[in-house]
Amino acid sequence: MRLTLRAHKLFVVVVGVLCAALVAQADELKTQRTASNQAARSENPDPEAGRIKSNTERCQECHDHDGNSTSPGVPKLAGLSYDYIVKQLGDFQSRSRRHDIMNAMAAGIGKADLADLAAFFSRQKRDTGGGAKGDANSANLFEHGDTARGIAACVSCHGNADGGTGPGGLAYPLLNGQQRFYVREQLLDWKVGSRTNSPGGIMNNIAQRLSDDEIESLSEYISKL
Ligand code: HEC
Ligand code: HEC
Repeated sequence: MRLTLRAHKLFVVVVGVLCAALVAQADELKTQRTASNQAARSENPDPEAGRIKSNTERCQECHDHDGNSTSPGVPKLAGLSYDYIVKQLGDFQSRSRRHDIMNAMAAGIGKADLADLAAFFSRQKRDTGGGAKGDANSANLFEHGDTARGIAACVSCHGNADGGTGPGGLAYPLLNGQQRFYVREQLLDWKVGSRTNSPGGIMNNIAQRLSDDEIESLSEYISKL
């Protein structure tokens, strides 16, 4: 009995230390990313030029004319932060994020064009699901996380209105209203480690603590937010 209690306490301490380490890691990464985000911003991106390029570069064929894709596996780009879109396109180019179609689509786009595209899509209004419905467990995980299991609240990083850019420039994607199938794929990819481009492995750490059932219902919940 005493042993079990001790083991439990040890577990709580270990999880606590892991959480503190994650937060410290996030702070450090925020500082590191400030410089590169400021560099990207100084390119003076032009959203109207981005609108035209999103057509000529054929992005609209999959992501729709205003970035509100209606295909289950294609993410909505509308309302994602500028910094997040710039980072993802860079990650597709360097192949630190792997996806055959997007690796090909992003290849060869110059820095200025990429910035214009990001400026255009980030300014489009996201079609959201119109408010939380869904099950209580998912709502609880999204809003409060699960401290005992070392899961920080999704909303603490992702926000609820715009994913935005956190203090120090770390780029968070807006999740609200995102395509359900896409969200599920990403969480499963983070979990098994086939997507590894989140700063410091933050999302791998979180997804590994979620069961497949939780991922399934969280994805549905998020798509309706
Ligand atoms: C043939 C369809 C197709 C075309 C064309 C296409 N995309 Fe994509 N895009 C996708 C799919 C599918 C994904 C999801 C990739 C994954 O599952 O990792 C994606 C992902 C993205 C993401 C990551 C979004 C996120 O939430 O992380 C960005 C940014 C993006 N595309 C921008 C663009 C831009 C800019 C263009 C035009 C240059 C473009 N895409 C053209 C299908 C397409
Ligand atoms: C400590 C901050 C943090 C917390 C807490 C967090 N996330 Fe994330 N999440 C991120 C960051 C940063 C990214 C972007 C990673 C990248 O640059 O590719 C991300 C990306 C994602 C993506 C991919 C979105 C896209 O458009 O491709 C999904 C889905 C996601 N998170 C779901 C969740 C869920 C569900 C939770 C709660 C269980 C959660 N996150 C908690 C920081 C966080």
